[in-house]
Amino acid sequence: MTKIDVLLGLQWGDEGKGKIVDVLTPRYDVIARFQGGPNAGHTIEFGGGKHVLHIIPSGIFHQEKINLIGNGVLIEPRIFRQEIESLAEKGVDATKNLFISKKAHLILPSHRMMDAANEQAKGGAKIGSTLKGIGPAYTDKIARNGLRVGDTLAPDFIERYGQLKRQHLMMARAMDFDVDQFRIDGLTLSQYERLWMESLATLKRFRYVNSEYFINQCLREDKRVLAEGAQAMMLDIDFGTYPFVTSSNTITAGVCTGLGVAPSTVGKVMGITKAYCTRVGAGPFPTELFDETGKRLCELGHEYGATTGRPRRCGWIDIPALRYACMINGVTELYVTKPDVMNDFETINACTAYDIDGRHTDEIPYEYNTANIQPVLTPYEGWLQSLAGIERYEDLPVRLKEYLAAIEQLTGVPVAAVSISPDRKDVLFK
Ligand code: GDP
Ligand code: IMO
Ligand code: MG
Repeated sequence: MTKIDVLLGLQWGDEGKGKIVDVLTPRYDVIARFQGGPNAGHTIEFGGGKHVLHIIPSGIFHQEKINLIGNGVLIEPRIFRQEIESLAEKGVDATKNLFISKKAHLILPSHRMMDAANEQAKGGAKIGSTLKGIGPAYTDKIARNGLRVGDTLAPDFIERYGQLKRQHLMMARAMDFDVDQFRIDGLTLSQYERLWMESLATLKRFRYVNSEYFINQCLREDKRVLAEGAQAMMLDIDFGTYPFVTSSNTITAGVCTGLGVAPSTVGKVMGITKAYCTRVGAGPFPTELFDETGKRLCELGHEYGATTGRPRRCGWIDIPALRYACMINGVTELYVTKPDVMNDFETINACTAYDIDGRHTDEIPYEYNTANIQPVLTPYEGWLQSLAGIERYEDLPVRLKEYLAAIEQLTGVPVAAVSISPDRKDVLFK
């Protein structure tokens, strides 16, 4: 029996997970998403083209590989259909190699409305949700009200759909939310609902599976399986910067509940981190830069959300958060992305500890959201050269290798590879 390898983000998302999964896919037989939903935006670039995936695993461009959407994932049928259509335009027929768990929950249009209603109710304390309905759909899952992919085949599906929608409408009105003014993609709830219902036909063309049996059978047959995380450690519902988090367990433990595999089957855990740090949406971010350097990171790194287009907040790499991520996830190797963004930086800082009211610590405090955290910065000399065209890790500039060695030393986890451009071909393994 083989082990299941895990790949996940160690910061606040958008570390380049999609790209690394795509690069690693040739080494695997199965790529499986285990949590999250269309709040994710995983970018893959090759052959001059750029592709953004939201629900579909990032192995989909390798048509001979199995891709699985696990039980822990949320599916919004209309977004799913758009994703399938955009893949078809690129000549990728996902019906051939994409399997979907019958137990994956559905995001209804009214979940998306509830997301907006919840954010409105929070006023100034907004999460900055992607408004894809993630929080409300997971809420219904836990409250045992949810509808699952397998239910789309049940004779009473429409009735159950209507019942849940009515509940949402009641709640929204009780929250003083203006249901009539609410729009999704410029459409009213009932206009969007029509498209959503039509999209179910696309969903039903796919093979629904009891994915827990499916994946365990794959492992028994010695197939190599890679679990692809969405969001990231610091957005985890339990261990992230609560309440400024997403609504799923984004961590290694989430692989077990999101796919139905035993903890003992977990093999390598690959953690992805940028050479600096970004965050979209609200919440604490101790190393955030509000100056020119922050703006340069945003511009040079094209730091705009793949799902919402919002500018990402930028700052230096946060070692205490990375160490925390390595601890919670049992990270066995690091993948560092986007050092190329800092090619022209004379100095690169790393936050190696937090100063909280004069006390230095590298522990993530419970009061993370409210504490006055000042990053303690350690400077590293920049490499001041382009990385374009470099094909081997050993040929990287000495100062970049020193920076990477410092990350290894500070986290206690070896770097397996570094990514130096958005393109599939630019991942240098050590
Ligand atoms: P994900 O959500 O973790 O899959 O990451 P996103 O796709 O949301 O964001 C990562 C962004 O960085 C995308 O636009 C990628 O094309 C880009 N990217 C990935 N790796 C690199 C890299 O090594 N260098 C540069 N410059 N861009 C990268
Ligand atoms: P990938 O997989 C970055 C953030 C949102 C918001 C918070 C809650 O591309 O790394 P939600 O829609 O879940 O209610 O939003 O989490 N967020 C992400 N930030 N990358 C993501 O996914 C994210 N998914 C959610 O911006 O702050
Ligand atoms: Mg993303």
